[in-house]
Amino acid sequence: MPVISFAKNQAPITVEAGANLMKSLLEAGLPVASSCKGDGICAKCRVLIVTGAENLSQINPREQVLRDRLRIPREARISCQTGVLGDVTVDASYW
Ligand code: FES
Repeated sequence: MPVISFAKNQAPITVEAGANLMKSLLEAGLPVASSCKGDGICAKCRVLIVTGAENLSQINPREQVLRDRLRIPREARISCQTGVLGDVTVDASYW
């Protein structure tokens, strides 16, 4: 099963393959910024992908719209629109 690791102090968490990244972080007790509650509108849930970007789901059309509109950098993903398929290390400025 995929392991989500963190660039800072948090212990790694194990998730089901394909688990939603934002939900997994929330279930682990980490705060994730959001004003749309995961509907893919606000882009506040973006997280930095430190390693393992290739182990995440493809960017879906909804995420692509946000990325284009807000010029979100390559190393970030909209966590509510992202599935975890393998090991990944993530970070957020407010963790
Ligand atoms: S929570 Fe709003 S886009 Fe992800």
